Amino acid sequence: MLRLDKFLCDCTELTRSLAKKVIHKGRVSVNGIVIKDAGHAVKDRDIVCLDGNSLQLRGPTYIMLHKPEGFTCSTQEETHPSALDLLDVDKPDSLHFAGRLDVDTTGLILITDDGQWSHRITSPKHRCDKRYRVELADPIDIKLISVFADGIQLRGEELATLPAKLELIPDETLPQGQTRQAYLTLQEGRYHQVKRMFGALGNKVVALHRGRIGDLTLDPELAPGEWRYLNDDEIKSLG
Ligand code: URA
Repeated sequence: MLRLDKFLCDCTELTRSLAKKVIHKGRVSVNGIVIKDAGHAVKDRDIVCLDGNSLQLRGPTYIMLHKPEGFTCSTQEETHPSALDLLDVDKPDSLHFAGRLDVDTTGLILITDDGQWSHRITSPKHRCDKRYRVELADPIDIKLISVFADGIQLRGEELATLPAKLELIPDETLPQGQTRQAYLTLQEGRYHQVKRMFGALGNKVVALHRGRIGDLTLDPELAPGEWRYLNDDEIKSLG
């Protein structure tokens, strides 16, 4: 059961105080009877109408965004705009990022108001893969594949990183099978993790793009800055 004013807020863009006002004005009915008590308990099957139009509770929101450079996955930072500003949705303040990307990292970011769902994506316990395409300043030694698989001790951290999968991407422009590009798949998301892992091995990340989370690949139809809602299968595949 929900209070009538809360029900109105959840179904519309009204704030709590405006919801109370429209209720007191007699614009809201429950099962055909005008109710002026904002604390009235709305039950599951009740039909609530505002100005005669019936209201439906919205389900949780699940969004994939192709994050461009220059946007943060924070709402506190003042030097760069938040990636939430790219969304044209009701109540963006109720949404959060299911895992963050740095301001200069591009690619797949998931946004939701379902805390349990995002926890399953971000918690290392659930071992959800996050796959990055990494471009480095210097060529990558093939021996690093086993170093990443064994885990790397990062400065200031108690535990080594979980096993990570490094896949080198062949580069025809470099001599003798050398490459500066790779895919790296992690099952955790520590602060600046990819950059710090390569940094610990004496290399520098010059470009970073996340292309996949779990089985969900960034939709190629989405240009940087574009977004779309996830469909039911996509939501379930990560939940
Ligand atoms: N690792 C990083 O270093 N940065 C990101 O944005 C994501 C993972």
